[in-house]
Amino acid sequence: MRVVHSPHEIYSQLTHERSTGRSVGLVPTMGALHAGHLSLVEQAKRDCDIAVATIFVNPTQFGPHEDFSKYPRTLDCDLELLRKINCDYVFVPSSEQIYAPGHSTFIDPPAVSRLWEGEIRPGHFRGVATIVFKLFMMAPAHVAFFGRKDYQQVAVIRTMVEELNLPIRIEICDTIREADGLAMSSRNRYLSTTERTRALGLWRALQHARELVEQNVVDVAKIEAAMAEILHTAPIDAIDYARIVDALTLEPLEQIDDVAVAIIAARLGTTRLIDNLTLSRR
Ligand code: PAJ
Repeated sequence: MRVVHSPHEIYSQLTHERSTGRSVGLVPTMGALHAGHLSLVEQAKRDCDIAVATIFVNPTQFGPHEDFSKYPRTLDCDLELLRKINCDYVFVPSSEQIYAPGHSTFIDPPAVSRLWEGEIRPGHFRGVATIVFKLFMMAPAHVAFFGRKDYQQVAVIRTMVEELNLPIRIEICDTIREADGLAMSSRNRYLSTTERTRALGLWRALQHARELVEQNVVDVAKIEAAMAEILHTAPIDAIDYARIVDALTLEPLEQIDDVAVAIIAARLGTTRLIDNLTLSRR
């Protein structure tokens, strides 16, 4: 496994790999790797000849009062995990290489970034779109792999790729969960024992929404009320949103006709968690 720090070097290495006919799969991450991240690298290894992970805690996607400075940084452990699963390249740029002093060029993210995370975390998707675009330029891959866990992020990236005609395919991978259903997240490590127990409310609410749809309940207000009740019982007091939205546009729905997605963002203490589940009538 090669660990590369320079944007110029990763570009020339991957350009060379491509010129010999190898397909390249890219997995952007912010490190603090867990089984969810590793599943993306494993998928990249299955689908492509060369798997490339990137590790960069991107400052521009954090708000001024968010956890950028205390975001977990576990580089040695991350590299060990990637080595074990035979990742081919890891690109670990420094902050100065990505955002030189005075940096002022950004990607204006698509309309699908407007609601939910976009509303609560102003500037977040501008930072995500910008870093992902930059990574695509520096580490030219045929396919990039993202987790469904960050549902709106996937929608933003897919739309950006389509609308900017970027020559890369986006693959979405399923959410990896702990045995009891909690979606794996680098932020789970912040949870105290009682918060960890209460955090399960997110998964319970999502599962209940799915059960109701399976019982042919299609009235979104009813399902959202049931989700809110489960979250309050957990108890999770700070719910940013617990809604059912159109699977493509992420606009609110009144009724589920075909496929929808239940999305939740909630805070336990100072830790903010997000999760989602696809609801299908078929
Ligand atoms: P990060 O939170 O490190 O996540 C990196 C990738 O792992 C994302 O595609 C995310 O959706 C995926 N992922 C996280 N938890 C997962 C889980 N439990 N199961 C499956 N996949 C999971 O998302 C980011 O970083 C950043 O915004 C990034 C795209 C790297 C841009 O900075």
